[in-house]
Amino acid sequence: MAGQSMHRIFRAVAVKKTTLAVVFVALAWTWLGTVEDRTLAQDAKSQASIEKAFPNSNKCKRCHERVFEEWETSPLSRSIHSPAFRATLDAFLASPEGKDKALCFRCHAPHIREFQDHTQLFIDQVKSGDPQLDGVACAQCHLIKQVDRAKHPPEPKYEAPGSKTLYGPYKDFSQNLAHQSMELGLFKKSDLCLNCHQAVPSAANLGKANDLLGNWDQSKAVKSGKECQSCHMPEQTGESANGEKKRTVANHTFPGRIGKLRQEAAKLDVETKIEGDKTTVIVKVQSLVPHNLPTTHPAWASVVLDLVIKGKNLKTVFSDKRIYGRVYHNAKGEKTQFDFEAVKVVEDTVLKPEELRVETFTFPTPKETRTFDVEATLSYAPITGPAPFLQRIEAESSKGTSDPVFQPIEIVTRTENVPIAR
Ligand code: HEC
Ligand code: HEC
Ligand code: HEC
Ligand code: HEC
Ligand code: HEC
Repeated sequence: MAGQSMHRIFRAVAVKKTTLAVVFVALAWTWLGTVEDRTLAQDAKSQASIEKAFPNSNKCKRCHERVFEEWETSPLSRSIHSPAFRATLDAFLASPEGKDKALCFRCHAPHIREFQDHTQLFIDQVKSGDPQLDGVACAQCHLIKQVDRAKHPPEPKYEAPGSKTLYGPYKDFSQNLAHQSMELGLFKKSDLCLNCHQAVPSAANLGKANDLLGNWDQSKAVKSGKECQSCHMPEQTGESANGEKKRTVANHTFPGRIGKLRQEAAKLDVETKIEGDKTTVIVKVQSLVPHNLPTTHPAWASVVLDLVIKGKNLKTVFSDKRIYGRVYHNAKGEKTQFDFEAVKVVEDTVLKPEELRVETFTFPTPKETRTFDVEATLSYAPITGPAPFLQRIEAESSKGTSDPVFQPIEIVTRTENVPIAR
């Protein structure tokens, strides 16, 4: 009996190789399926353990609705979400410099500092385009208990994972059922921000030139007692937690490139001299920012001064520009848009803290008109870089070429109508 059925099986195998192949594929599929389920389950478990130590911002929203809504509109809430970040992270991971896979996250999702073993989860979530983990959110700042400024760049020390104490600016906080509160002077000081904003460790090869803010601490604003928060988290009056008494609170939209603060970035002064056929325009760019403008991470960040002259029938008869930013070279001596592979700054036209820059433009005096317009505009420039990199961002973005990185952001503009005396 047994021999007979064995024989039958052998025959079946011999005859139906294809069936076997199908069975094998099906088995492999089931096996892969369980592996996939297992990693999914593992990912969920990793995420849960990360969020046990660094509660998701949704948890804070319940009681801190105002703060949450402000933060949600800020760039900080999208620190691992932008197509530009995704594409740059990919370029970094594929580069010889990309061995330290957690590097970008140390500022873009700093809880990785306590969860180095889970680096792959952070990477996978960024690649998915819709990370569920927070980037720079509530707990990522409010669990910092110290910043070590002896390190370059400065480093944060986090409260031990699982702590229920959140640090903040108030001594006279109301008690609540979700967490303990503690006043920490650090929250009123620039030090808190410097650990992410002063220098980028990936650009360590640059030595002293790895410096995003310049001599900010020598600026008039900072010497008069202003901290980063004075301008980028302006004071307002409101509820700190839902239903609590109104008090002085801090704006969490982090105004920067977006928001009203931009209008305080610079003043433009325009002076036009007509000397017969030749006209000279002198534009004085007065930076009011107490640190470098722009801050040069990512490395393509730049601010542009555009000058446009409109003559007869408002037709442009002359245009020119000045670019404020940095040009970096990589180890091969080629220009690079990535600070992680930069070894040298070959050009630095960044506006230094509170600097007055004077630009001179000369052009032929417009003809056949009694007046002409001089338009000077200062703006943050759109992203620049090698075509394949830009195409990659365009492909990654749901908005394509309308993604915000491809748009300039105007800072200040000045228009003057100049009469020609003949
Ligand atoms: C854990 C790191 C980290 C800390 C701490 C931090 N930031 Fe940032 N900040 C970032 C990152 C990353 C971005 C960029 C987010 C993006 O656009 O993807 C950013 C963006 C900003 C912007 C927007 C800049 C722009 O171009 O518009 C402002 C303003 C800002 N931060 C101010 C502050 C201030 C003020 C503090 C201190 C109270 C601070 N940050 C602390 C990481 C940090
Ligand atoms: C020392 C902290 C720090 C590190 C490390 C860091 N960044 Fe950033 N990153 C920032 C800050 C702060 C900003 C916001 C700068 C600003 O707006 O002026 C930023 C902005 C950016 C932006 C533009 C905003 C956006 O989200 O599109 C990109 C892209 C970016 N970083 C990519 C990276 C990549 C890739 C790495 C790793 C190679 C990295 N960063 C490492 C702090 C850091
Ligand atoms: C059950 C409601 C509740 C939840 C949930 C909650 N908080 Fe609070 N929190 C409060 C109340 C109430 C205060 C006191 C506000 C006051 O005194 O005006 C407060 C105060 C604070 C302060 C100020 C502390 C100080 O001493 O300056 C910070 C910072 C803070 N919360 C952060 C958070 C963060 C981050 C989360 C999420 C991880 C969170 N809170 C979740 C109710 C809550
Ligand atoms: C980049 C760091 C950073 C992030 C991200 C951040 N905060 Fe804050 N937060 C601060 C600082 C700094 C202060 C104190 C500012 C001051 O008083 O000048 C503060 C103040 C507060 C306060 C007391 C003042 C107020 O405005 O009510 C609460 C409550 C608070 N944060 C909750 C949160 C919550 C909730 C989130 C997430 C939705 C969050 N914070 C995200 C840095 C941060
Ligand atoms: C006196 C007010 C003031 C102080 C203090 C100040 N800033 Fe700014 N900051 C500005 C203005 C104005 C701008 C330019 C307008 C804008 O926000 O884009 C700016 C721009 C920025 C930007 C975006 C610029 C870019 O090129 O992407 C960042 C990031 C930033 N500041 C971080 C900081 C940090 C970190 C500190 C503390 C060390 C600080 N700022 C202190 C006024 C200030």
